Amino acid sequence: MTELRNDRLLRALAREPVDRPPVWIMRQAGRYLPEYRAVRERAGDFLTLCQNPDMACEVTLQPIDRFGLDAAIIFSDILTIPHAMGLGLHFVSGEGPRFSDPVRSERDVERLAAPDPEIELGYVMAALRQTREALDGRVPLIGFAGSPWTLATYMIEGGSSKDFATIKAMLYDRPDLLHRVLDVLADATTAYLNAQIAAGAQAVQIFDTWGGALSPEAYRSFSLAYMQRIVSGLTRASDGRPVPVILFTKNGGQWLEDMAATGADALGLDWTTDIGDARRRVGDRVALQGNLDPCVLYASPDTIARETHHVLTRAGDAPGHVFNLGHGVHPAIDPEHVAAMVETVKGWSTADRTTNEHE
Ligand code: CP3
Repeated sequence: MTELRNDRLLRALAREPVDRPPVWIMRQAGRYLPEYRAVRERAGDFLTLCQNPDMACEVTLQPIDRFGLDAAIIFSDILTIPHAMGLGLHFVSGEGPRFSDPVRSERDVERLAAPDPEIELGYVMAALRQTREALDGRVPLIGFAGSPWTLATYMIEGGSSKDFATIKAMLYDRPDLLHRVLDVLADATTAYLNAQIAAGAQAVQIFDTWGGALSPEAYRSFSLAYMQRIVSGLTRASDGRPVPVILFTKNGGQWLEDMAATGADALGLDWTTDIGDARRRVGDRVALQGNLDPCVLYASPDTIARETHHVLTRAGDAPGHVFNLGHGVHPAIDPEHVAAMVETVKGWSTADRTTNEHE
């Protein structure tokens, strides 16, 4: 296996010292990049792009080539699992994902079965193998999946939702049915992430985009418990190196202690939590990833540098910080503004930190 030449991400996730925090960006390959839009145009539609390993590999590498980031994340989507379950995923332009056969009745729930990741999701594994080879040890490759709760919101609502009315009615009226859906999804996701690790993923992230819409009690039993089960079921090493797991619950700042207790290596933070407070609360149990407000990238490059310094300063000196946005980069962002953020992180040193504290 090729030697990994830049292992800052893996070292920071293991809470080992690094020369500076590693930086990668959620949704780093996407519509804000003209080179992505060109490949997307060639593919015709988003799902075709995800299912073509040559094109998925090409767009995965685009932000690495452009910005010199410290990690690649495989180009794919969290909805690959429900797609493989046969729910009829399609994307309506300007409106996001839709399922033509949403899960509503007891019969729909009974029919759900975990897909075989090497068969129905074989295209994701092919993209990972090809990308790992193309990276040739430049930076580590991150695999990912959605949390069972987050996937269930799309499967039950039939698409994106503002208030989660349908799935929450099920949660309160028929918790048994919802638990059955989440149970199948937890098994499917464990097998999917383990297959990604076998195909070359060197770290994995679980995106719990909608966990923050739950009450504390519901969060624990309908989202966290299933993520905990996944974390416990993962193969945590490959090629003789640990494979770290990052847990990201958007708007989950009030539950960091519980999230750290799952055994995850790192927690992703959105921008509504102060990363310094988060560090004090979780101690040295986990690494922290984040958490610049993605909207800072609409401001000027000078402001971006200042706000990036602020996050780096708040994160402090203790090992175990991975710089990232608090959520995905927006499609309207100027790539030059992303470059201003990345260059600021790369130029960060102890000297900056000291000056900054006296500002
Ligand atoms: O981070 C990366 O660069 C890897 C790629 C990635 C995509 N989706 C590509 C994508 C990742 C990690 C995701 C995860 C994902 N997908 C989430 C969790 C995200 C988070 O940050 O919390 C969710 C909720 C989805 C479901 C989904 N897929 C939505 C809501 C959309 C947007 C639809 C729209 O039109 O805005 C997608 C499509 C999608 N996934 C795009 C990309 C680049 C845009 C598709 C296009 O090119 O038209």
